[in-house]
Amino acid sequence: MPIDEITQKVSDRYAKAASTGEQMCCPTSYDMADLQSFIPEEVLKISYGCGTPAGLKTVSLGETVLDIGSGGGIDCFEASRLVGPTGHVIGIDMTDTMLAIARKNAPLVAANLGYTSSNVEFRKGMADAIPVIDGTIDLIISNCVINLAPDKRKVFREMFRVAKPGGRFTISDIVADQPVPQYLVHDADKWGNCLSGALTLTDYIAGMVGAGFLGIHLIKTSPWQVIDGIHFFSVTLTGYKLPASAPLSDVRYATLRGPFSRLVDELGTTYLRGIPQPITPETVRLLSLVPLASHFILSPRPLWLDRADDRWTAIYPADTLCTWQGHFAMFAGPFIEAADDDHHIYRRGEPLEICSKTLAVLGADGYAPHFAIINRAGQSASGDAVICSPNGGCC
Ligand SMILES: C[S@@+](CC[C@H](N)C(=O)[O-])C[C@H]1O[C@@H](n2cnc3c(N)ncnc32)[C@H](O)[C@@H]1O
Repeated sequence: MPIDEITQKVSDRYAKAASTGEQMCCPTSYDMADLQSFIPEEVLKISYGCGTPAGLKTVSLGETVLDIGSGGGIDCFEASRLVGPTGHVIGIDMTDTMLAIARKNAPLVAANLGYTSSNVEFRKGMADAIPVIDGTIDLIISNCVINLAPDKRKVFREMFRVAKPGGRFTISDIVADQPVPQYLVHDADKWGNCLSGALTLTDYIAGMVGAGFLGIHLIKTSPWQVIDGIHFFSVTLTGYKLPASAPLSDVRYATLRGPFSRLVDELGTTYLRGIPQPITPETVRLLSLVPLASHFILSPRPLWLDRADDRWTAIYPADTLCTWQGHFAMFAGPFIEAADDDHHIYRRGEPLEICSKTLAVLGADGYAPHFAIINRAGQSASGDAVICSPNGGCC
């Protein structure tokens, strides 16, 4: 299908939804009672996101926020409240009907928030040609939109262009556990339903890294639909455009604390738990970001850790039988590869089948935020319990 045709069909779909108030799309977790206190019903009823990026409290007072594919404006209005009257919010969307509803409600939201004038503006524009000046945005948000854009690499490059050095994104979108086959890609209706254009998690994150973002990691994930064995799920991801220059620092080494026994960062450096690794100033900047910093001790001189040290962390599997119940773990950063203490190697975005024992390990606090877990068993699988050999024979 030609790109223009996809775009037109998606726009028609959302114009129709906006004018009828149709309920559609995906898993969200808004506090509707709270939003109703300042956002008109006309906006809330055409909320078509798959997450709550602006509601994730990453927004600070006075910041400039860009919402790509702002729809009726729900996330822009939440961002408007969070940045305060000194902040600024820009929503862009390609669909006139959506823009009209958002623009009409902007003064009402401003009045409800007690602002003398609205700090939100809605511009007509495409996600792959964002009508915003270079390097002006602190935080980019987008809620269930990029999957609808035919050329996602261009969207990611545009995001990087408009982000300030030191800026970040928090984006919710639909991804798939495997490449979406051509018979779905060329199904015009499923484009509008956030299915046909979904990337795998690996390709999604690779696109962002390719554009220049780093420190990309998972904030939240929830299952959505299974179609022909393909699992579609929503992810909320955050990542950074590193500042152009690093503040002076005497840090020269990073020592991995755990719980991962080995990690590879996005710049290609490998870390083994407890062993000091020499690092460059660029890597110091990367490892200082949230949540990377919690995994390391950064120091001017080599620092070794052993198991007796309080700073060493590890999560070992229980000494129990394994049952295979159809679970797959997808590592979601902020590293490209990781190993646990039970012989598993997780590559970012790639589903790895895990047994009940590993499922329990990955549910522990130190690991859970890094993984999306899906179950590919067609029906609930009880599985026969099997013994894992001490060298990790079964899992
Ligand atoms: C699923 S809705 C989400 C709207 C809004 N973010 C929300 O959470 O309610 C997708 C929105 O993105 C817009 N959109 C889709 N593809 C776009 C593109 N390539 N460029 C700009 N806007 C796009 C549509 O017009 C629609 O308003």
